Amino acid sequence: MQEKLENLQTEALKKIQNSKDLNELKNHEIFYLGKKGKLTEILHGLKDLPNDQRPTIGKFSNVIKKNLEEAFVQKEKMLENEMILKELEEDSIDISAPGAKYNIGHAHPLATTQYEVENIFHGMGFEVADGPEVEVEKFNFDDLNMPATHPARDMQDTFFIDKKADLKLGRLVLRTQTSPVQIRTMLKYGAPLRIIVPGRVFRNEALDACHEHTFDQVEGLMIDKNISLAHLKGVMAEFLSKLFQREIKVRFRPGYFPFVEPGLELDMSCMICDGAGCKTCKKSGWVEFMGAGMVHPNVLRAGGINPDEYQGWAFGFGLTRLVMMRYGIDDIRMLSGGDLRFTEQF
Ligand code: DAH
Repeated sequence: MQEKLENLQTEALKKIQNSKDLNELKNHEIFYLGKKGKLTEILHGLKDLPNDQRPTIGKFSNVIKKNLEEAFVQKEKMLENEMILKELEEDSIDISAPGAKYNIGHAHPLATTQYEVENIFHGMGFEVADGPEVEVEKFNFDDLNMPATHPARDMQDTFFIDKKADLKLGRLVLRTQTSPVQIRTMLKYGAPLRIIVPGRVFRNEALDACHEHTFDQVEGLMIDKNISLAHLKGVMAEFLSKLFQREIKVRFRPGYFPFVEPGLELDMSCMICDGAGCKTCKKSGWVEFMGAGMVHPNVLRAGGINPDEYQGWAFGFGLTRLVMMRYGIDDIRMLSGGDLRFTEQF
């Protein structure tokens, strides 16, 4: 009998040890210790044993029962721990795994150049001012010394907003130039002033490699007591030399713009050949850069500034054209075309 019990214990312990999961273990438990289990059967049979054997075998059976119960509990704990570990392993994040790659964009060449322009002017004490792209006719034209009948309006084929005109402010237009921000800034801050105004402007152009309906300009305005064109020459030579990182000279030619008097065109020495003459400057050594002049007294007055007390100069250049010159882009349409094969080159 004792041997039978010992064999049963060995057999059960082996099965417990080899159990792969809780289910299997449970089945073994039922098989040995359940109500109709093998060990239970033996314990039931104790009463049929002869009197002298009963106490020893009885005791022994109980020891075995206890052993098995303990073994089951222990194995159960082990299997549960294993399961938790496995779940954790499946849930865990491998922090050394390479991440998904995102394509990060970069600033457009127009923006890059704009920031550089802003930085350089900032260094010379200029603030960056801003104005709306949908502008009133009064600021875009009238206050800039271009009344409705002025022939210079023809030079800027204008997009009008389809809305009734305001008696004082006129019609709404997509601003054709950044110059209206001169008026806005004068009205807001008065004199003295030192600002640049980078921004988008719009004209109803026939599109080709040199003309777009939307392009960018930078306006400049410096107003104070005793300001002359000499300051403009100095500021622009400094600005262009900083931007192109080489010495650039500037020269004035007479030019006409209704909002300045005298008006002028500013040329810069060619940044490709340093003035020797090449394809870019058409052998002249000079590249046309911008319009400028001394702010017309009527414009100062429109901005609420007394022309007898203050004077100043203004300028306007094409940021888009500057970017094209700078990077050798020969078709303006590339800049706003949104073609990544183009923009990714910068
Ligand atoms: N607004 C002019 C244009 O778009 C450019 C310009 C010329 C601006 C002379 C000025 C200036 O401030 O003084 O053609």
